[in-house]
Amino acid sequence: MKVVKTIAELKTIVNKAKENRHSIGLVPTMGYLHEGHLTLATVARNENDVVIMSIFVNPTQFGPNEDFESYPRDLERDVQLASTVGVDVIFAPSVEEMYPTDGGIYIRAGKQAEILCGATRPGHFDGVLQVVAKLFHLTEPNCAYFGQKDAQQVAIIQTMVRDYNFSLEIRTVPIVRELDGLAKSSRNVYLSEAERREAPAIFKALQIAHDEFLISRDAEKAIILARNYIEECTSGRIDYLQMLSYPDLRQVTEETKEVLIAAAVYIGKTRLIDNVIFSLK
Ligand code: PAJ
Repeated sequence: MKVVKTIAELKTIVNKAKENRHSIGLVPTMGYLHEGHLTLATVARNENDVVIMSIFVNPTQFGPNEDFESYPRDLERDVQLASTVGVDVIFAPSVEEMYPTDGGIYIRAGKQAEILCGATRPGHFDGVLQVVAKLFHLTEPNCAYFGQKDAQQVAIIQTMVRDYNFSLEIRTVPIVRELDGLAKSSRNVYLSEAERREAPAIFKALQIAHDEFLISRDAEKAIILARNYIEECTSGRIDYLQMLSYPDLRQVTEETKEVLIAAAVYIGKTRLIDNVIFSLK
């Protein structure tokens, strides 16, 4: 496995792969790898000749009061973990390498970014699209792999790919969870022991909403039950808990085929997100 830090080195590898007609799978991450990231890499490994994982804590997707500085980083550990699942290349650029100048040209996410995480984190998805668009150009992947954990993120990226004719396929991988149901996240390390014990209530609440909705088809009731559960079982503060159609992220109607129930909850100071997606047939 190679670890490269410059765009020039990365381009040499990508050009070589293209010359050899090798397919490229891209797994974009911000590092501090866990089983969720490694599952994306494993799926990419099975489907491509060359697997490139990017590890870059992207400053442009963090708000001024968010955790960019304190976001956990450990490249050495990540390199070791990535090598266990057959990643070929890690691209771990510096901020200066990715953003040497600010030319003042930005990508703006559309309507799908006005709600859920986009409402709490203004500009977040613009930053995600900026870095993802750059990574797509730099690695020229046949497929790029994203987790359902960030369901809104992958829906918005899909829209960019479609509307701006990026020539690649987006693959989505289901959420990888701890045994007690908590979605794996690099931010779980922020939780104290007591907070960690409360955190699985988020997934439980989503399941409650899911089960209730399938029985009654009453979205409001389902969400109220889930909210009550989180409020009773945790000391957390709900940022949002919503049911929407997926991937367009509109109100659920009779025509809705795929449903997303998504939550963001502050457990202590840590903001955790989770969701369930299911079809209505
Ligand atoms: P990061 O939070 O590091 O996540 C990288 C990828 O791993 C994302 O596609 C995310 O959805 C996926 N992932 C995280 N936890 C997961 C889990 N428990 N199960 C399955 N997949 C999981 O998302 C980002 O980084 C950034 O926004 C990025 C796309 C890299 C752009 O900077």
